[in-house]
Amino acid sequence: MISDRWYKNAVIYCCAIETFLDTDGDGVGDFEGMSRRLDYLQGLGVTAVWLMPFQPSPRRDHGYDITDYYGVDPRYGSLGDFVAFTHGANARGIGVIMDLVVNHTSDQHPWFRSAREGPDSPFHDWYVWADRKPPDAEKGIVFPGVQKTTWTRDARAGKYYFHRFYEFQPDLNFANPEVRTEILKIMGFWTQLGVAGFRLDAVPFVIALPDPETGKEKPDYELLREFREFVQWRSGNAVLLAEANVTPGENMRYFGDDGDRMQMMFNFHLNQHLFLALATGEAKPLADAITATRDLPATAQWALHLRNHDELDLGRLTEAERGKVFAAFGPEPEAQLYGRGIRRRLAPMLHGDRRRIELANSLLFTLPGTPVLRYGDEIGMGDDLSLPERECARTPMQWSDLEHGGFTRARKPTKPVIPEGVYGYRHVNVAAQRRDPESLLNWFERIIRMRKEVPEIGLGRPRLLRVDDPAVLAMRYDGDAGSVVFLHNLSDRAREISFRAGPKAAGESLVNLLSEDHSVAGDDGRHVVLLEGYGYRWFRRADADGVMLA
Ligand code: NOJ
Repeated sequence: MISDRWYKNAVIYCCAIETFLDTDGDGVGDFEGMSRRLDYLQGLGVTAVWLMPFQPSPRRDHGYDITDYYGVDPRYGSLGDFVAFTHGANARGIGVIMDLVVNHTSDQHPWFRSAREGPDSPFHDWYVWADRKPPDAEKGIVFPGVQKTTWTRDARAGKYYFHRFYEFQPDLNFANPEVRTEILKIMGFWTQLGVAGFRLDAVPFVIALPDPETGKEKPDYELLREFREFVQWRSGNAVLLAEANVTPGENMRYFGDDGDRMQMMFNFHLNQHLFLALATGEAKPLADAITATRDLPATAQWALHLRNHDELDLGRLTEAERGKVFAAFGPEPEAQLYGRGIRRRLAPMLHGDRRRIELANSLLFTLPGTPVLRYGDEIGMGDDLSLPERECARTPMQWSDLEHGGFTRARKPTKPVIPEGVYGYRHVNVAAQRRDPESLLNWFERIIRMRKEVPEIGLGRPRLLRVDDPAVLAMRYDGDAGSVVFLHNLSDRAREISFRAGPKAAGESLVNLLSEDHSVAGDDGRHVVLLEGYGYRWFRRADADGVMLA
């Protein structure tokens, strides 16, 4: 399946085994369930799945607290079931990307249990210790309001250990070469079992090492190059996708000027400004974010998302900007989290408005990068705000109107399925949408097919076109074989816009890729297009003789 730089035009689907499909009736999803749904994923058109953490874990942070990096949580199946799933996925042209959570382990990991015994333990220096609580222990808390500190005293060790996240997630000590060697071994293990890449969790924290001279923390980007080199030695096609919510200036450091560090990175900067644009109906924040993050080394690629499994983190917007997004998409205190984000799923955030859901996803599929779709978003699943923190947006997949949405035959699933209301499984489920040609599910299938026919997006660099309308974003990508134009109206009002698609505009036509609504440029070389409220257009450029323009 894998072609050169396959990740540049992949469509990634993010899912958690726990909440996808339970086949053994214990109320928890499993690898067997994932395998049974591979035909569904292939039909949808996705080309890679990103599996959230599935290794043994007390699951106090959705599996981001691992106790064995070389295994599969027995609730989900065995290592054999993982291999059977990966084989089945690959046979359908779908690559498997997995989370690599190595900034920290679970406090139940045998390494930490041993480390607590004191300096004589071979694992003591695998973690970060201090005899006294450091003065900055209350700084840099990731989950404000829930997490109290970043240094917690361990009675057994008689010392404080460092943890960026919850107190049950002690940080590994990357200054220790033994730790680095072990992490490479973990990557080697899973690449040998056929994974197409890793989503590296919490990368800025992984690489923050104490400067030997000052003792202060400083990013060690060399570590990223080491990871990349190793993974590519083992598997030339495997990719590293970094989770790093950093500024546009820092992004380049993660890719490396020569493209020798991470191949992919989530574009959190763009994500926050995209939601600002959706909230205000103005294209400018989004256009500016595109410009700020447009230039990448040739092998590098953005990963794009709308909502992920965490809160919609708006921490990099100004307070006034964040206030606008809160007001539009999550004004209620229970919809907000950690003072910086919104914990709703996409559909309820956009008030279930099909036009806005399509607009947001049309942007996801046409902005520069590789789209990452979150499970359930293809049917417009909702959330359950009665669940704590980020759990509200992690409810089981809704397959049908059978009890528990067809997710499990257990009397009580371990995570509750959304039972009722507008987003309940009786209204929102795959079975119903599969039969309805106008459903959101079938819209996704069409849009994914078309996205695959427009490789210019993944391989190119967008140009922003002038449209003289603050609500409309107009982009063009040029590739070796063609040129494409995308229009998005962020406001709820219809707009008539006039624009030039490119220098060869006279007589040029814009062939609509999704409907019959084409456009031919006038004598002045300008197109005039009427966009309905929240309307979007995907066009391919052709000259006056109908020859596609490159
Ligand atoms: C980032 C993950 O996305 C989040 O869900 C998790 O809680 C933290 N890393 C800690 O692993």
